[in-house]
Amino acid sequence: MNILVTGGAGYIGSHTIIELINNGHDVIIIDNLSNSSKEAVTRTEKIVGKVLTFYEKDVRDKQALEEIFSKHQIDGVIHFAGLKAVGESVKVPLKYYNNNLISTVSLLEIMESHDVKQLVFSSSATVYGDPASVPIKESATLPAKVTNSYGQTKLIIETMLMDLVITNNDWQITALRYFNPIGAHESGTIGEDPSDIPNNLMPYVSQVAVGKLKELSVFGNDYPTRDGTGVRDYIHVADLAKAHVAALSTPATPNKYRAINIGTGKGTSVLELVNAFEHASGVKIPYKIADRRLGDIAECYADSSLAQSILGWQAQKTIEDACADSWRWQSANPNGYKG
Ligand code: NAD
Ligand code: WQD
Repeated sequence: MNILVTGGAGYIGSHTIIELINNGHDVIIIDNLSNSSKEAVTRTEKIVGKVLTFYEKDVRDKQALEEIFSKHQIDGVIHFAGLKAVGESVKVPLKYYNNNLISTVSLLEIMESHDVKQLVFSSSATVYGDPASVPIKESATLPAKVTNSYGQTKLIIETMLMDLVITNNDWQITALRYFNPIGAHESGTIGEDPSDIPNNLMPYVSQVAVGKLKELSVFGNDYPTRDGTGVRDYIHVADLAKAHVAALSTPATPNKYRAINIGTGKGTSVLELVNAFEHASGVKIPYKIADRRLGDIAECYADSSLAQSILGWQAQKTIEDACADSWRWQSANPNGYKG
């Protein structure tokens, strides 16, 4: 299939392109490089051994989309493009509503007019808010409002997609609700490259390990969890990438919305992750216990049985694999794609 990959220069997009190509698909990439670099595309090309079709364009630009859809026979779309910094989204909500919502509406309108109806959308476990219980099932009631504007854009987009499938217009839509993606390609040549001080745990730990940051602040050790620190479901990005290929090869029933958790089903605490990273890298990670981070929840991990039964997908890689791969990427590229 010819797959349009929006946000294909980004962290998850670049890893997914490798899996798509390895499974016989062709890709057309659109990315405005607002949170990524062309170097990621160049390195992805090296891994797959072919030149990739890349458009440096904004998904909100309908004219650019129209040209791409007219030029290429597109069979399906994976929509990664979006802004994702939770903290920033609370400070500048309109930037997030503008970018994430307008790009999605523009994309859906062009898809509809070109009769392209297969979509895989990057959603997030953030749509569950503070879950009533863990592991989280897809059937959990979604809150009307989550605490940050980033998460709210995901919730609004999912609502929009649910509305779209009931138009009986043969849309085949899958929202993959990612838990916490970590790790990097096993080559160590592509990986997560935050443009600023990382907000997320794994890139922060890796940058402490490589000496770019002094120490990790562990946000709270008084949660009702095994060791008092927050528990999350960390999923290797290569496994996550494979879930997209599985979603395309077992497409949703037309006019039936499906949302699927993509996680390992296993929770790992902050201190357990730090331990695993130290083990994989041989580097000691200095840390201090700090206050809880506003908006954080104690535990969040997936019931991943639906992905197994519908997509025949389950995570293969361990936290140790992910730590080893993150370390390989970070140690070989201490400044990310900037060299
Ligand atoms: P990323 O920032 O590395 O990739 C997103 C890409 O989209 C970037 O390359 C950016 O330049 C591009 N982009 C943003 N707005 C655009 C626009 N208007 N037009 C064209 N390109 C645009 O992020 P990622 O971690 O790869 O995340 C991919 C998707 O998965 C996002 O939608 C994100 O919200 C979602 N997600 C990520 C996580 C995570 O923790 N990484 C978890 C759950 C969901
Ligand atoms: C993980 C754990 C922190 C940094 C976020 C988004 C979510 C999704 C994934 C996009 C928590 C602790 C972290 C640090 C720490 N993204 N931590 N010190 O918050 O689970 O999820 O990314 O959809 O929407 O909210 O991920 O990596 O920030 O935090 O102690 O410097 O690590 O408190 O327990 P989170 P995270």
